Amino acid sequence: MCGIVGYVGKGLAIPIVLDSLKRLEYRGYDSAGVAFCEGQSVFRERRAGKLIVLSEALKNRMISSGCAIGHTRWATHGAPNVYNAHPQNDTSSNIFVVHNGIIENFAELRDDLIDKGVVFSSQTDTEVIAQLLAIELLGKIHTYQNVVRAISTVIKKLRGSFALAILVKELDYIFAVKRSSPLIVGEKNGECFLASDIPAILPYTDKILHIKDDEIVVLCTGKIRVYDNNLKQRKLLFRKVNTKMQEIMLGSFESFMQKEIFEGAKATIDTVERLQHFDVCSQLDKTRFDGDFDLHIAACGTALHAGRIAKLLIEKYLRLPVDIDYASEFRYSYPILSDKSICIFISQSGETADTLASLDLAKSLGAYTIGITNVASSKLAGEVDVNIPTSAGVELAVASTKAYLAQLGAIYCLVVSIAKLLHKSLDLDINVLLEIVRQNGDMTYCRDWETLLPDLSELDSLFFVGRGVDYYLAMEGALKVKEISYIHCEAMPAGELKHGSLALITPQSYVVVLLTQAELMEKTINAIHEMQSRGAKIILITTKDVQIDVTHIIKLPAVPDAYSPFIAIRPMQELAYMLAKHNGYDPDKPRNLAKSVTVE
Ligand code: F6R
Repeated sequence: MCGIVGYVGKGLAIPIVLDSLKRLEYRGYDSAGVAFCEGQSVFRERRAGKLIVLSEALKNRMISSGCAIGHTRWATHGAPNVYNAHPQNDTSSNIFVVHNGIIENFAELRDDLIDKGVVFSSQTDTEVIAQLLAIELLGKIHTYQNVVRAISTVIKKLRGSFALAILVKELDYIFAVKRSSPLIVGEKNGECFLASDIPAILPYTDKILHIKDDEIVVLCTGKIRVYDNNLKQRKLLFRKVNTKMQEIMLGSFESFMQKEIFEGAKATIDTVERLQHFDVCSQLDKTRFDGDFDLHIAACGTALHAGRIAKLLIEKYLRLPVDIDYASEFRYSYPILSDKSICIFISQSGETADTLASLDLAKSLGAYTIGITNVASSKLAGEVDVNIPTSAGVELAVASTKAYLAQLGAIYCLVVSIAKLLHKSLDLDINVLLEIVRQNGDMTYCRDWETLLPDLSELDSLFFVGRGVDYYLAMEGALKVKEISYIHCEAMPAGELKHGSLALITPQSYVVVLLTQAELMEKTINAIHEMQSRGAKIILITTKDVQIDVTHIIKLPAVPDAYSPFIAIRPMQELAYMLAKHNGYDPDKPRNLAKSVTVE
C-alpha cells in the first residue's frame, strides 16, 4: 500500500521523483524517501511523516543526479519512523530498495540471514530483500546482467506481493520487478519512468507499459529492457493512456475529495452511458444463469456498501437470494460455492488484497465471477470472468466518493441486465436513472451543514439511522464521516434502536436520519420520535414532504424511491468533508489510512 517511483534520464531526477510521489501519496503517507545515483555512489534521504517533510529537507540541496527512486509509505512492518522508511539498504549500503507490498515469509528469511551474521537496521520486510540481493552479488562485479540474475534468484525466495525498484552502487540503472503489486513504466524522448500508478508519471509521459508478474525491468537513459522469468528479453508494446491531466489536477478545488464529490454525478453518468454501449447483458455468460444458481457479493468498505444496495435490488426486483460479506470475512467463512455460483466482486482500485483473495477462492471452487472495478488495468479486472467497468476517472482522495456513485450506476445496469437475461420485467429504467442524475446529481448541501458544523465538530459520537436502502446509505455516510473527521460514527438500523443502541442516545446526541422510501416512512418517523423523546437532536435527510419537528431538515429533490441512493449520499459526503476541514484535518489523507489496501 505504498507508492514507488523511479526516473532515469537527462533531466534532474529528484524534482521529478518528488513531484511524481505527490500523486502517489494516496497510497500512504507515513514516511517518504529517495535514493539517487551520483558518481559511483548511491545516496539516500528519508523522513518520517508526509512527503512535504522530505521535500523541505531536500529543498536547498543541489542534486544533479539523473537517476533516482522514491517511496511514500503506509507502514506494515515496523513503526512509521525514519529507520523503517524506504529506501532500505543492505549493511554495506551497496543496494537500495523501495517496495510496495508485503513479504509474507520475511520473518523466516530474516532469521536465516541473522544466523548468517547479517545485522539488520530496520524492522521492515523490505530490508530482507536488500540483504538477500547483497549476498547474491557478493564478490561479483556490479554489472546490470549480474544484478538481473541476482534479482531473479532472490524473488524465487520471496512469498507475498511486491513491486520493487532498486539502485545498485556503481550503476546508473534502475532495476524493478513485481508480483501481485502494480508497476508501470513509461518513456518519452529517452527519459524513462517507473511508478505504482499512472497518475504519478502522467505529466511526463502518456506512453505506458504494464509490467507482468516476475518480469524484471532495467531502465537506463534512452532504454527500457524487460526480461521474462527465463531472463529472455521481451518486446515492448507501449500504449497511450486515456487519463486526462485535468483528472489528476486540483484545478480550483481545495482538495481532491472536494473535487471528487463534485464529480459524482459525472462519474455516474459516464459509467451508465458507457455501460449502455458496452451492453452488460451481452457480456454475461447466459449458461451460468440457466437453472439453479446462487449469488454472492464480496467487497470492502465503501465498495461493500454499494454491494449492499446491489443485494437489496436483486432480492427486491429479481427475487433471487444474495449472500453478501466483507471480502475479509468471505475468504475465511467457508463460503458454499460451486460451479453453480455467481460471485460479484466490487472494488474501485481492483487491487484490494482481501477482495482479490476472495476472487481466487471463488474461482478455485468453480464460480462464475463478475467484477465491478474502476481501474481497467487492475488485477481484479484482468482476472474476473467478466469485468463491468466503472468510469469514475482517477479517484485520488483516500475517502471514496465518486467511485461509490459510479459503482451504484454499474450495479443498476447489472441488475437490469440480469433481469433481461432471465426475461423478468423490472421496475427500474436506466434512462430514468440518467435523467434523475442529470437533473439533480449536482445539487450541493454545503449551506445546510454550515450552521450545524460548530456543534457537530465537538461531538464524540454521531449516529446515522435508516431502514432498508436508507440504512445502507447511513452505513456509507457513517464511514465517510468517521474516516476523515475522526468522530466516532455508527450507523444503526431504525428498527434495531430499541434492541440496544437507544441506550447511547442522550440529550447531547445528534442523529442523522435518512428517509427516502415511502413504504418505510411511518416506521422511520416512529424511530425519530423514540430518539427525540430521549432528547436527541435529529438532522433529517429526506426526499419526502414530512411534517415533523426536527433540529434540521435537508430536503432532497423528490426523486422516485428506487433511485434515491444517487441523490441521498451527496449531503453526507459533504458533511464528512466539511467536518474534516472545520477541524483542521486534511480530507485527502486521513490518519492511518491509505487508499489501496494491498495487504491483508
Ligand atoms: C472508504 C474507502 C474504503 C474503500 C475500501 C475498498 O472511503 O475508500 O473503504 O472503499 O478500501 O477499496 P476498493 O474499492 O479499492 O477495493
